[in-house]
Amino acid sequence: MSTPAREPTDVSDVLVEVRDLEVYFPIKSGIVFDRTVGHIRAVDGVDLSIRRGETYGLVGESGCGKSTLGKAILNLEPPTAGSVVFDGVNIASLKGEDLRRERKRFQMVFQDPLSSLDPRQTVESLLLEGLRAHGLDTDKAATRARLRELMSDVGLPAVALSKYPHEFSGGQRQRIGIARALSVGPDLIVADEPVSALDVSIQAQVINLLQDLQDKLGLTYLVVAHDLAVVRHISDRIGVMYLGGLVEESDAAELYDIPLHPYTRALMSAVPVPDPEVEDSREQILLMGDLPSPANPPTGCRFHTRCPWRQETLCDTERPQLRIVDVPGATGHHRVACHFAEQIASGELQPHEVRAELVAEGFAAPNGPEAPPEAYIGV
Ligand SMILES: Nc1ncnc2c1ncn2[C@@H]1O[C@H](COP(=O)(O)OP(=O)(O)OP(=O)(O)O)[C@@H](O)[C@H]1O
Ligand code: SF4
Ligand SMILES: [Mg+2]
Repeated sequence: MSTPAREPTDVSDVLVEVRDLEVYFPIKSGIVFDRTVGHIRAVDGVDLSIRRGETYGLVGESGCGKSTLGKAILNLEPPTAGSVVFDGVNIASLKGEDLRRERKRFQMVFQDPLSSLDPRQTVESLLLEGLRAHGLDTDKAATRARLRELMSDVGLPAVALSKYPHEFSGGQRQRIGIARALSVGPDLIVADEPVSALDVSIQAQVINLLQDLQDKLGLTYLVVAHDLAVVRHISDRIGVMYLGGLVEESDAAELYDIPLHPYTRALMSAVPVPDPEVEDSREQILLMGDLPSPANPPTGCRFHTRCPWRQETLCDTERPQLRIVDVPGATGHHRVACHFAEQIASGELQPHEVRAELVAEGFAAPNGPEAPPEAYIGV
């Protein structure tokens, strides 16, 4: 967020390299025998790189796998397949002491600070816990100075150290969550909806704090957020997720200027624009139906059941790869997972109504909700 997005010049510019990452959760059934009857494909083949010092924003609707991807990158959720190479080490394969030692280099900030902070511990003891776990509290005076420094870094007074989480406001608690993540001196912080639980007036303060800390400490962030305005403000690059996979990735500003994947266009069209004239004349894409079940994802392009540009060939048979597209105005690292991205961008292909039976197909989840009676998509 502090530096403009840029292409990596060499591999040392990349801090995290995610390849073919999958996280499947077993669906169990049976009273006597716990049989696995299927899998929830929460993350289903993700490739992405996060560069040193950048903020990578991850967006997508609820249930698309953002949190699971964030956790899998930190090995808090063990991947089913694929690799996560962090500064040259495949952390997806680390276990036990090796994983614990490496952990201090990557930390997580959670959405709900109250549930992630033990209410029976003071802030000091919460912070000491992390320091001790990584053998960083060897000298008493140095530890005390470190705790004070952490408080000052996150904009809290030193007296806060002796208080309990419930004595703070939501924004202050998130500052404590950030201090805890910072305490072990990480290179990467995965922040999962770091401001979603906060009042709008407090959100900007916490976002600014994250930005200041990045400048000061050279941190790298993966920020998961629902709010497209928050992601735009904070990110150098953005990845858009749909049903376990990335469907588009580009520099933050470019994604908002020229969204190329039909799903991204639908997300963007849902963000209100303050100027009423622009608001009236701009593209409106209403997505029908919920996200299909990740236990039974649609064949081919995962988005074909809801896509207003779906074609009779390829869309429901071949899963499109995330690829650099040849579209005027798009830089050489704007990647899109759509067979027809170029034709859609040029206007050669026009949107159409989405057939109700396709939306219903997207609902083909065991015990899933009923399909809506009709689907309408207007552009
Ligand atoms: N531990 C788990 N066991 C089984 N299924 C899980 C588990 N964690 C997540 N899931 C499922 O995996 C899918 C992706 O969940 P995830 O929490 O990663 O989505 P998300 O994009 O973070 O959603 P939200 O925006 O609501 O936080 C969902 O269908 C969810 O129900
Ligand atoms: S591949 Fe087909 S279904 Fe998928 S986004 Fe592109 S046009 Fe739509
Ligand atoms: Mg989540």
